[in-house]
Amino acid sequence: MDPAKGEISSELLQAQAHVWNHIFNFVNSMSLKCAIQLGIPDIIHNHGKPMTLPELVAKLPVHPKKTQYVYRLMRVLVQSDFFAAQRAQQSEEEEGYVLTHASQLLLKDDSLSVRPFLLAMLDPTLTKPWHYVSAWFQNDDPTPFNTAHERTLWDYAGHEPQLNYFINEAMASDARLVTSVLVKEGKGVFEGLNSLVDVGGGTGTVAKAIANAFPHLNCTVLDLPHVVAGLQGSKNLNYFAGDMFEPIPPADAILLKWILHDWSDEECVKILKRCREAIPSKEKGGKVIIIDMMMKNQKGDCKSRETQLFFDMLMMVLVTGKEREEKEWEKLFLDAGFSHYKITPILGLRSLIEVYP
Ligand SMILES: C[S@@+](CC[C@H](N)C(=O)[O-])C[C@H]1O[C@@H](n2cnc3c(N)ncnc32)[C@H](O)[C@@H]1O
Repeated sequence: MDPAKGEISSELLQAQAHVWNHIFNFVNSMSLKCAIQLGIPDIIHNHGKPMTLPELVAKLPVHPKKTQYVYRLMRVLVQSDFFAAQRAQQSEEEEGYVLTHASQLLLKDDSLSVRPFLLAMLDPTLTKPWHYVSAWFQNDDPTPFNTAHERTLWDYAGHEPQLNYFINEAMASDARLVTSVLVKEGKGVFEGLNSLVDVGGGTGTVAKAIANAFPHLNCTVLDLPHVVAGLQGSKNLNYFAGDMFEPIPPADAILLKWILHDWSDEECVKILKRCREAIPSKEKGGKVIIIDMMMKNQKGDCKSRETQLFFDMLMMVLVTGKEREEKEWEKLFLDAGFSHYKITPILGLRSLIEVYP
């Protein structure tokens, strides 16, 4: 920047705006959290047509002194594409708020809702470790979560029912969304299998859907004791309190959905070796089915790339894991003794990967 050429002011001001925008990136997440906690998407949805500001304010559980601030909250959420302003009819002057595709995914009673995931990720227990990242870089703790809470995420969840509930609900909501795609478009993956163990299967949302779609397939959900405690199975679904680092019950296939990105390369190889011991040869139908992110290294859709990088940082901060590119996945599979794999990119930012002995 050369002040003599008069360049300084515009470039400097643009740089300042860029820095400000990044300082306040959290405003988007926190405003969204507030809207969810106040039930704004549901109120607008139930209204059935564009909802004017006074109509919205009348329905909101806010103190009378605070009604004047609702407009400002809505304005930032319109800017971030969670709501849009529309006229109910051409003739009407006043605009009303409507949902966008993104806020439709945040409705309370929508079975595919991302709401529990949002409430879990933005809970203070999970945002606190972000304040400890630089301290973690300078100490020898395994994760910033450990630095903040003095134990691992899984150990913490085992002792704090509230966090356990939030994590299990968040996973179950994601599992519903993924299964709705999987059972329709990835059906072939389960054909020919007689048994399946969903390792780290949480409270069993994915396994239940698979068990319903394939009544002859015996499904087992393996997860930590505090996750599966008290859960009831059905004709072809049962629960197993266990540890994925210990021997896994034998099955034709093992499912690992959103598991390996939680763990370091060494830990993943250990888990994958346990999976390999549990399945038969490829000829007899043995395979591991993985649902996880495949990082793209080329510059593609900027937002998708940024979201994948956010997830990678999240895995660094909360657990010992990471998001991986294809080369890194391949290395894990070969190191664990598998011979080949097939990637099917049917799940948005994530992929379905079948790995064969
Ligand atoms: C990110 S969640 C994924 C849950 C589920 N697969 C899904 O996608 O909905 C990771 C799961 O791994 C489980 N887990 C963590 N450590 C484990 C261990 N050592 N053995 C078995 N399960 C474990 C957690 O309890 C949690 O349910």
